[in-house]
Amino acid sequence: MATQAEKRGLPDPSLSLFQLLDPAVHADPYPFYRRLREQAPVMWDPFMHTWVVTRYEDVMTVLHRFSADRTPDPKKMEALGLPSLGPVADVMARQMLFLDAPAHTRLRKLCSSAFTPRRVEAMEDQIREIAGGLIDACAGRGAMDLVADFAEPFPAIVTAGLLGVPLDDHRRLKAWSATFAEMLGNFQHNPDRIHDVLRCVADMTGYFREAIREQERRPREGLIRSLMDAEVDGSRLSEDEVIANTIVTMVGGQETTTNLIGNGMLTLIRMPEKMRQLRERPEIIATAVEELLRFETPSQHTARIAPEDTVIGGKLIRKGEAVMAVMAAGNRDPERFADPDDLDLTRADNRHLAFGWAAHFCFGAALARMEARIAYSALLGRLEDIRLAGDRLEWRTNSGLRGLKSLPIAFRAVEAAA
Ligand code: HEM
Repeated sequence: MATQAEKRGLPDPSLSLFQLLDPAVHADPYPFYRRLREQAPVMWDPFMHTWVVTRYEDVMTVLHRFSADRTPDPKKMEALGLPSLGPVADVMARQMLFLDAPAHTRLRKLCSSAFTPRRVEAMEDQIREIAGGLIDACAGRGAMDLVADFAEPFPAIVTAGLLGVPLDDHRRLKAWSATFAEMLGNFQHNPDRIHDVLRCVADMTGYFREAIREQERRPREGLIRSLMDAEVDGSRLSEDEVIANTIVTMVGGQETTTNLIGNGMLTLIRMPEKMRQLRERPEIIATAVEELLRFETPSQHTARIAPEDTVIGGKLIRKGEAVMAVMAAGNRDPERFADPDDLDLTRADNRHLAFGWAAHFCFGAALARMEARIAYSALLGRLEDIRLAGDRLEWRTNSGLRGLKSLPIAFRAVEAAA
């Protein structure tokens, strides 16, 4: 008798998304994504117990129509025999990333009223200073680890500034974000890490609760203050909602931006003619950032739940089944992008999926774009003859938030422009 998987037409097991756990595939997942798009664009993956969609159109459909409400609440955790994870579920269940309308619409409106385009614009000079300071600290050495010395601390310090907490706390924000993101981005969880995740959630929650108390004593400009004050149509955020959405903003803004800067710089080092083009034509920086987001998508996939029986690509996805939408695969879909495996820093038609799509479209996209423009411009402006300083590249074991552990580079520093 045919198994459930055979009924669904299980293709070659080498097409399972579990392949991303193979370091060689993870180092360059794009040939694997091409096979998925071509051979099984809408596939039931029995190893992951989820559907996997990889074509641009289908990824868009899933992000547009499917449910983001995918984290069990503390009660369900208890029913699953995982009561110790209740505190994690309690925070996630209040984060906009895991809610559908109308709860999502309410939270997103309130948070957007606090995180305005004007707030992002006002940060530009500070962000330039942060980038310049980090480069100055390494310029004289002629070498640096681009990840540890720049791509990690840069968004961490920017995040501290955005939230309105002491900039010196950026190392703590970074450590919490790394632990939380390891859980968010991976589909295989290491039970030994549960203790760290619980400690991280307790520490973050305690830190931001104290930051709120400090705001009440001594109000200070920043996103936390604005979230506390936000009011839309008579609705306000509860203290727990402020904390949960401060955490999702803090995590959302760090690992992704680190990956964009690190992976993007590696791409430019591997394609010296593209790096030269960007140096010679700094005015193309905005389209270059979009293309690097498309080409090396920092957040490769996300999950959704089918809200009702739905046919996609001729396959019936049953209500309640999980779906992985692989944005990084959609971003290389030749049906949508001409020569998708070419890096075209001036690509004009580039509505990529790197920031997601529809209601959950990245909340911090404007800030991320500004940070990336400033980071690449500052690095290329101050460092010449940038080259790899090691022969081995190591990737973090995070299939979703795909980024380098380190990127040792050597260079010749030039004087900062006045
Ligand atoms: C290169 C940098 C970034 C990338 C690639 C990125 C990517 C994404 C993606 C793909 C989503 C949608 C996830 C989904 O639909 O499941 C998302 C949502 C989100 N991002 Fe970003 N992000 C970046 C930077 C930032 C920054 C700087 C912030 C905050 C300062 C931020 C905060 C958020 C938040 C809060 C959400 C949830 C939005 C919602 O659910 O309505 N992100 N981001």
